[in-house]
Amino acid sequence: MLDAYGVKVSRQKTLGGYKAGKEPYVMAKFFEGESHTFSEYLLVPGYSSAENIPANVSLKTPLVKFKKGEEPALSLNIPMVSAVMQAVSGPRLAIALAQQGGLSFIYGSQSAEDEAQMIREVKSYKAGFVVSDSTLTPDMTLAEVLELKEKTGHSTMPVTADGTSYGKLVGIVTSRDYRPSRDDITKKVAEFMTPVDEIISAPETTTLKEANDIIWNNKLNALPIVDTSGYLVSLVFRKDYDSHKSAPNELLDASKRYLVGAGINTRDYETRVPLLVEAGADVLCIDSSEGYSEWQARTLKWIRQTYGDSVKVGAGNVVDAEGFRFLADAGADFVKIGIGGGSICITREQKGIGRGQATSVIDVARARDAYFEETGIYIPICSDGGIVYDYHMTLALAMGSDFMMLGRYFARFDESPSNRVNVNGSYMKEYWGEGSARARNWQRYDLGGNKRGLSFVEGVDSYVPYAGPLKEGVEGSLLKVKSTMCNCGALDINELREKAKITLVSATSIVEGGAHDVLLKDQHQQVSYNFRS
Ligand code: IMP
Repeated sequence: MLDAYGVKVSRQKTLGGYKAGKEPYVMAKFFEGESHTFSEYLLVPGYSSAENIPANVSLKTPLVKFKKGEEPALSLNIPMVSAVMQAVSGPRLAIALAQQGGLSFIYGSQSAEDEAQMIREVKSYKAGFVVSDSTLTPDMTLAEVLELKEKTGHSTMPVTADGTSYGKLVGIVTSRDYRPSRDDITKKVAEFMTPVDEIISAPETTTLKEANDIIWNNKLNALPIVDTSGYLVSLVFRKDYDSHKSAPNELLDASKRYLVGAGINTRDYETRVPLLVEAGADVLCIDSSEGYSEWQARTLKWIRQTYGDSVKVGAGNVVDAEGFRFLADAGADFVKIGIGGGSICITREQKGIGRGQATSVIDVARARDAYFEETGIYIPICSDGGIVYDYHMTLALAMGSDFMMLGRYFARFDESPSNRVNVNGSYMKEYWGEGSARARNWQRYDLGGNKRGLSFVEGVDSYVPYAGPLKEGVEGSLLKVKSTMCNCGALDINELREKAKITLVSATSIVEGGAHDVLLKDQHQQVSYNFRS
């Protein structure tokens, strides 16, 4: 069936009804079939040749639209972007993810100036030179040091006169400077830090290679970089030099800076976008729970009128072909899919809108392909929210998604901006929805313009199990994605789509899919097993 825009959509039925004493009229459209989510599908393996090994698989994927036969202006080296959320996408995570080949969209629920500052922080980041997130003042107590260490997971803490990460360096504290079980926890940092005159530091002009040599020659774990007046600039850690060398997928711009995106809304774009563009944002994304709206079209139009095609901007979220076509025609560079599937999301409960994430992806992917056939323009689509197991990513790709946006997944890592807390003996990270009372990102949910509409929450505040460094987590997840692609005989995402055989599974088969009818020996194994990645 063709919709109002001439796009092939899933067949819809209409239901007739009566108004008292009036002609019959059409009441509502019903999508045929149920709407499904990723857990209800599996991939059926295809033939895999000797070539099909994970090392041969490429996950490169387009980020923005391009014409048939041309290359996209921006691509991702891995099909993952981090959610436009306070608990997820700050500068540290943006850098860590770009090092792995993905991209973060810095959250827009803050002032435009603060958001632009975060963009600048990513763009000015020199690989291996870290801006400290655990800086002390000399009069802080050992108790406060321990609390900060618990929160950030970092034990090397520079001490500056004013406690900022760019303040005058007065000392450094590492876990070798105190004994938590024996020392008086009220003693001051000044009493146990290594003072600045005993610290080996290096000037701003130091290259990463030189910094690494100083670290090795002096058996240091961290080297503070200071300016000519003794103010702290950054730290180089022993391990970062190695990790920089082992980041072959890094997502860099032409000037070898990390690529970074920024979230925008449909209200203050005329002031926010110029600041973000000037700060160096590589791509923007209109962040809204519901994207099929006049407000999104207006925002896209303003960006096109002001910047032509030089500013790339994605839009969403939509869950059907009609919504995709609307945003495609309005000029979106990519389209984001998903309403109500996010882990912290209660939109479906609150408003009764949404659609199963897998069905939405399949429907929108068909519309994207039809649009490509018709216009010769390929608009990448992004499945946003609801990725629980790693294999959900493979399914999303096989169903036609070009890349995925993840919130819960990234919130668990060291680099996310949220606090790490100890809950009943287990480390957790805090994770809260943009529509929760904590984030108060109301412009994401009301309908745009200047009027505030929302007066109820659409998200929750929660904990997710802490999962260590992003690099290890992403590498582990993508190894699984690549292995499954090999089982399907695919060496890249296009080939996966061509070759994937996807089957719906019954509720009983889903139970069969996990360990069953056995007692797991190790309680922890059970927890991690049940808790997904
Ligand atoms: P997750 O990866 O399942 O945690 O889902 C993350 C996605 O949920 C985000 O990218 C948003 O699209 C969506 N989201 C973020 N905050 C909220 C909220 O408060 N309510 C509903 N959806 C949200």
